[in-house]
Amino acid sequence: MAADLSRARIAILGCGAVGEALAVELVLRTRRHRRVPFRGELVLWSRSRASVRRCRKALLEISPRRGAPVKAAPSLSEAVRGADVVLVCVSDDALVATTLDVGRAVASQRVKPVLLLSSGYQPLAPLRARLGRGIALGRLHPLVPVLPGSAANARTLQCDPFGIEGDLRAQRAARSLLRHWDGSAVRLEPGHSAEYHAGAALLGGGIVALFALAEELMAPAVRSRRALRDALEWFASENVTNASREPRRALTGPLARGAADTVRGHLRAMGRVPHARAAYVALGDVMLSLAHARGSLDAAAERRLRKLLRGRTRAR
Ligand SMILES: NC(=O)c1ccc[n+]([C@@H]2O[C@H](COP(=O)([O-])OP(=O)(O)OC[C@H]3O[C@@H](n4cnc5c(N)ncnc54)[C@H](OP(=O)(O)O)[C@@H]3O)[C@@H](O)[C@H]2O)c1
Repeated sequence: MAADLSRARIAILGCGAVGEALAVELVLRTRRHRRVPFRGELVLWSRSRASVRRCRKALLEISPRRGAPVKAAPSLSEAVRGADVVLVCVSDDALVATTLDVGRAVASQRVKPVLLLSSGYQPLAPLRARLGRGIALGRLHPLVPVLPGSAANARTLQCDPFGIEGDLRAQRAARSLLRHWDGSAVRLEPGHSAEYHAGAALLGGGIVALFALAEELMAPAVRSRRALRDALEWFASENVTNASREPRRALTGPLARGAADTVRGHLRAMGRVPHARAAYVALGDVMLSLAHARGSLDAAAERRLRKLLRGRTRAR
């Protein structure tokens, strides 16, 4: 298979949020962004026909005339027959069974496809051991939150990072697909998908949870909820930008400065919002380590603040 997939037959299995977003990226062509056009064939399969219909509708709305040919396959085996690349985008609990079904469906083909999993978690080695020979297995994991209906809301995967790993042929195919939408590759070390995915889930879900907690805590203190949201969006993104340069240097706030009275006041104020104090204490421990490592707190101040955090939690 050529490294250039612009004329390949690509099957997407699972037309949920990620399957649909990938289909949209393949079909969408914008000269403005100088993407490599996809002139191959896209084949869609999903467990429910309604999902395939919804996905085709989204593709039609986005690219009514000039998009690549898109077909709906009546079965998984029809979808993968003759495919160069199969993108497996089903939910985590259906992933192993679906991948093995693909293996069985292409067992008699002379040229076997590349299988790319959109899951960031599923370890590849045990799956590879159960797949037939000749199939290249890899990962193409969007390291971004993909919400259902993103395509309809014009949220595309363009320029987004993707975690990739796997057999050489699979990695080549993954990089070639990324060229279609200017995506960037985060090359993964084999055998560490659980750590990789746990980190992504902690950060992604953690930001959302912290945003919700902060908003709830601050709501009585502001006149406009809308203005608060906008301000928090800005505040969060500034902190993320600073952290991406160097987490230790990015830290601000009373724990980083050793301001014990302020920390005490915060702990009192948090009683009103369930989970806020527990999150403050758990994350406060990490903040103290960062502050100590960069030298803005001496060991005695760090100890005092840790005690303050722990003492207040026990007192609840
Ligand atoms: N959403 C994200 O932010 C994100 C980001 C990166 C990676 N991922 C990964 O991408 C994969 C898909 O996630 P998603 O967010 O697209 O999920 P989703 O929107 O819930 O879609 C799940 C898909 O799996 C199919 N499915 C569910 N159970 C099945 C079964 N028993 N047999 C066959 N197909 C089944 C569904 O089919 P029907 O629609 O036909 O019911 C649907 O197409 C997951 O591995 C996820 O970890 C998600």
